[in-house]
Amino acid sequence: MRELIDAAVARRKPLLTHENNLVRLVDGAGDGLPDLFLESYADRLLLSTTVPRVEPAVRGWLERSGRTCYWKRLDQHQKESPTLLCGEAVGEPFTVMENSIRFEISFQSGYSQGIFLDQRDNRAEVRRRSAAGTRILNTFAYTGAFSVAAAMAGAETTTLDLSQPYLDWARRNFSLNGMDPAAHHFCKGDTFHWLRRFAKQGRRFDGIVLDPPTFSRDEKGRVFRVEEDFGELAALAAEVLAPGGWMLCCTNFRRMSPGAFERQLLERLPRGIQASHADMPADFTDAPYLKSVWLQS
Ligand SMILES: C[S@@+](CC[C@H](N)C(=O)[O-])C[C@H]1O[C@@H](n2cnc3c(N)ncnc32)[C@H](O)[C@@H]1O
Repeated sequence: MRELIDAAVARRKPLLTHENNLVRLVDGAGDGLPDLFLESYADRLLLSTTVPRVEPAVRGWLERSGRTCYWKRLDQHQKESPTLLCGEAVGEPFTVMENSIRFEISFQSGYSQGIFLDQRDNRAEVRRRSAAGTRILNTFAYTGAFSVAAAMAGAETTTLDLSQPYLDWARRNFSLNGMDPAAHHFCKGDTFHWLRRFAKQGRRFDGIVLDPPTFSRDEKGRVFRVEEDFGELAALAAEVLAPGGWMLCCTNFRRMSPGAFERQLLERLPRGIQASHADMPADFTDAPYLKSVWLQS
């Protein structure tokens, strides 16, 4: 087991650079270690397991690494924050860097730490597609990582989420990168509601990110399910997309193939839209669960 972890970590070495200190070091069965996931956040480790125990060999490896490690149990329903497994407790919050962009991280703010590592390549692509003068809409934005990536390229961004604490976190991510959040837009509320409102106001965007949770309920109790409702979501977004604009549609719903996902999207969209699929980042070697479809109008 120790050798497998060493080999997995060695394979990720090229991804750890001066510009990037955020990487998945071990990706379960993809590295021959089913149920075991290890990520490094600026040298602080986060171990995730689907079983309620940590094997002594794994614990030994972590202790020998000399680094702080927190443990997140993926089998729990309460969605609690990770707990300290070894090393010293980390000062909170702290900053990580991905492709020269800084993000605020917290191991104590609940089940999610402030950024989803599996979206690294999509964030880089959003940045590539953005430029000064482009208008980018980031829905289901969480801590605004896609918005920050677009703003780094000069875009004017709109960040939309149900949660005020996450929107505040997104503002801090802008500030961390020397950008004034007041020069960008932040909208609190339901994505469906805001898309209809933008359409009525005649607002248009050159790029739109749609990365919803698999299941969600808005303030009024309305339910969204990826497998049934993504087509409608994409159709609403298409109404506020500027001519020649793009949309990024993502889901990590495992019981839907990339082909079925693309069909669901294209069925509800105007003809002539081109779809292409993006792979997961190189450090995600387990079964590819994240489906990313880029739509070009
Ligand atoms: C899976 S996270 C999105 C991750 C984000 N796209 C990223 O890459 O960092 C889901 C987010 O959607 C938000 N959310 C859930 N339902 C929503 C809704 N109906 N409208 C707007 N935001 C919603 C949640 O508050 C949460 O921040």
